[in-house]
Amino acid sequence: MNMMNKVIADSEFDVSARYAKCIEISKRINWDIDEDVIRGREFDVSQKFLPDTLSKVEELESLSKEEKKFISQIQGRTYANMFGLVERFINTKVLEIGQDYNFGDQVALEALIRFSQEELKHQELFRRIDKMCEAVMPEGYSFVPQPNDVAHVVLSKSTWAVLALTLDIELFTQTHYRDSIDPMENLSPLWKDVFMYHWREESQHAILDELEWVRHDKGVTAEERDQGVDEFIELVAAVDGILQAQAKADTDYFVKACGRDVSEDEAAKVEKSVLGAYRYQYIFSGAAHPHFGKVLGSMITAEQGERIHAALDSIQ
Ligand SMILES: [Fe+2]
Ligand SMILES: [Fe+2]
Repeated sequence: MNMMNKVIADSEFDVSARYAKCIEISKRINWDIDEDVIRGREFDVSQKFLPDTLSKVEELESLSKEEKKFISQIQGRTYANMFGLVERFINTKVLEIGQDYNFGDQVALEALIRFSQEELKHQELFRRIDKMCEAVMPEGYSFVPQPNDVAHVVLSKSTWAVLALTLDIELFTQTHYRDSIDPMENLSPLWKDVFMYHWREESQHAILDELEWVRHDKGVTAEERDQGVDEFIELVAAVDGILQAQAKADTDYFVKACGRDVSEDEAAKVEKSVLGAYRYQYIFSGAAHPHFGKVLGSMITAEQGERIHAALDSIQ
């Protein structure tokens, strides 16, 4: 074996070992929705759901302590629903790319099938969480985007763009848990557990997203990649459209259910703050993730990177 062949063989071994490691961890940490996560508990509305560092609720100075807590619960419910939403298209794409391994690497195939099973379980968990929120929160909440409608729009774009968005999402999930949810005291312990268990399985997903995106990237032409960059920008714009609609729905719900008259001016300030929080949660915290920047930067040109930055700068 010459040196070049040896380097290729070693790197193939590394990749294969990473799929195997994901399976090993996935088996070890596997959890059950009722036995491990919910454990017969209900949500306690005397506690916040989403931490302040994500909800940005402390910037709303006109709101009382109780009202800020209510906003954190509305945003928390939307947070769970947003994951249920994106997991519909993520799972569909994972099942699609997994077929590349049907008659090939059976370890990679198993890793992707476990990924898919976990996303199906997470969608069930988030449907349960929404119902449990419904049981303790005032009537009138609505989650605007429909998972299948969003999945059809996202999956109409190239695999390169969908995998870019997927890695972005699965990396920010981890940052949110580690940097914001885990360290915050006085957060609902049940809500904290939901995202601790979710984070544990998402850690493997982000590794698999990266492996699959890098593998896919090697097979596309420069023109296809360039189109992928434009489509990734279109997907981020589509996410922003969803966030604008949901920020409006969540503000309308807050105004109707908070128990006092809220002026139009104050409602506009709440909506602006909620939209800012959602853009931070679902767009900027992922775009600023150092590892996402590293993987993306290894594939694209400086001009393509500038195009993405300009698109992100235009969202405000
Ligand atoms: Fe998930
Ligand atoms: Fe995931």
